[in-house]
Amino acid sequence: MGKSPTLEFDSKWDLSPAPESTGHINLKDQYDLFIGGKWVKPSSKKYFDTINPATEKVIAKVAEANEKDVNRAVQSARKAYNEVWSKLSAGERGKYIYRIARLIQERAREFSVIETMDGGKVIRESRDVDVPLAAAHFFYYAGWADKLKYAFPNRNPQPLGVAGQIIPWNFPLLMAAWKIAPALATGNTVVIKSAETTPLTLYKLAEVIESAGLPPGVVNIVSGAGETGAAIVNHRDVNKIAFTGSTGVGKIIQRAVVGTNKKTTLELGGKAANIVFEDAPLDQAVEGIINGIYFNQGHVCCAGSRLFIQESVKDIVLRKLQDRMESLIVGDPMDKNTDIGAINSKEQLGIIKKYIEVGKKEGATMYQNTCDLPKKGYWCRPTLFTNVSQSSRIVQEEIFGPVLAVQTFRTIDEVISKANNSPYGLSAGVWTDKGSKIFNLTSQMKAGIVWANSYNKFDPTSPFGGYKESGFGREGGLHGLKPYLNL
Ligand code: NAI
Ligand code: MG
Repeated sequence: MGKSPTLEFDSKWDLSPAPESTGHINLKDQYDLFIGGKWVKPSSKKYFDTINPATEKVIAKVAEANEKDVNRAVQSARKAYNEVWSKLSAGERGKYIYRIARLIQERAREFSVIETMDGGKVIRESRDVDVPLAAAHFFYYAGWADKLKYAFPNRNPQPLGVAGQIIPWNFPLLMAAWKIAPALATGNTVVIKSAETTPLTLYKLAEVIESAGLPPGVVNIVSGAGETGAAIVNHRDVNKIAFTGSTGVGKIIQRAVVGTNKKTTLELGGKAANIVFEDAPLDQAVEGIINGIYFNQGHVCCAGSRLFIQESVKDIVLRKLQDRMESLIVGDPMDKNTDIGAINSKEQLGIIKKYIEVGKKEGATMYQNTCDLPKKGYWCRPTLFTNVSQSSRIVQEEIFGPVLAVQTFRTIDEVISKANNSPYGLSAGVWTDKGSKIFNLTSQMKAGIVWANSYNKFDPTSPFGGYKESGFGREGGLHGLKPYLNL
């Protein structure tokens, strides 16, 4: 393991391997579609491989749904809506959602191991973040099911019908929970599609839905790539589209729904500013910067990918940051000591590498952790760039990997205008000892979420969503009910 140039002691302990056991998980070799409460073969007869990005080994074959399959899924969602779900009392609906939440908790170990195998994220995160938060979302929205009248006083909240939902690969189970839980609580039925590199936990969720005895067709789960997603978006009998993914696809979806009466929520990219003032608790701030950009390999739409340091503390923050980066353990995501796991796919690694080259060509100064990387699998060292400008592509464009661009500032007005100079507006972070600075900043930042003296903290009660090219609509909290209702 490498030594940091600024550290006098070895920055890494030699930790013995601490792999999470995988013996308890139950995976099939092949997954069919989950439609109308049954496992059905795709009419395309096609299956694609889902691999473990840390080993490049195939984990399972997964059905590719075509338009015909999507039609079947929407039909079964409509039937379940008309015949069962819309007739059930809100209290009964809530009970099913509670049951799903409890079953996720009971099977948490299995969910987290499979999430890590399929997507490359470290077990510590899937175990401590993804899976508990997914259960928490179901618990939270279960509680709202019979209280919608109180959420929207003097209104008449009514479900929309069938919700089409398309999710990305960075938080597969969690994104499914963000979308399915409020849809069910508000009385809608669902057709949901996983991302092509991470379909497995959604099919494990199908098993949970079976065990919970949810009426057939209330949740239908399909897999496939962009064409499958487009078939959901363009289906005439879908009343609402909820999408999380790239801004490019978000724009395609927005164009596709124009002139229809489909409601939409789009949760797209980001390029968040993480701002460190000279009066901040610097060690805490450094942990927050690390968490902000290297959490989940930087595969986070709200990642703090633009760091702004007040000039007076630039040298010390950069030194502490580089020392801390050097101590990060990159490698086997199944090991409980690993900080940074595998990049989700070969394609995504290609995108990140391209941006690292762009940064070098633009004349920025690069610093990377010096650790060894495993031979197989997709890996990227935590990376930091200084000497960048506001117009650098690595400052303007979303990289979606563990790559941080660092700038400095002198005054609060300067940093606000620099931070807001972005096509995106999803999230931001601020580190300071002064409450007044926090209030000043939060009121002037064009960002849907602003964390103060923390970063990447999530809670089901708190709404999440963006401004500008980061999309529109909110998920989570009371706000997250509204996009699934006619008031
Ligand atoms: P993507 O936007 O293509 O994929 C997200 C989901 O949309 C997947 O389920 C995909 O199958 C589906 N999809 C693709 N084309 C579609 C279409 N025409 N109609 C309906 N659904 C469609 O994102 P991709 O290619 O996986 O990643 C590319 C970049 O997108 C990343 O580098 C990152 O910058 C950004 N991204 C942002 C995410 C976020 O959380 N905001 C999540 C994933 C990617
Ligand atoms: Mg995979």
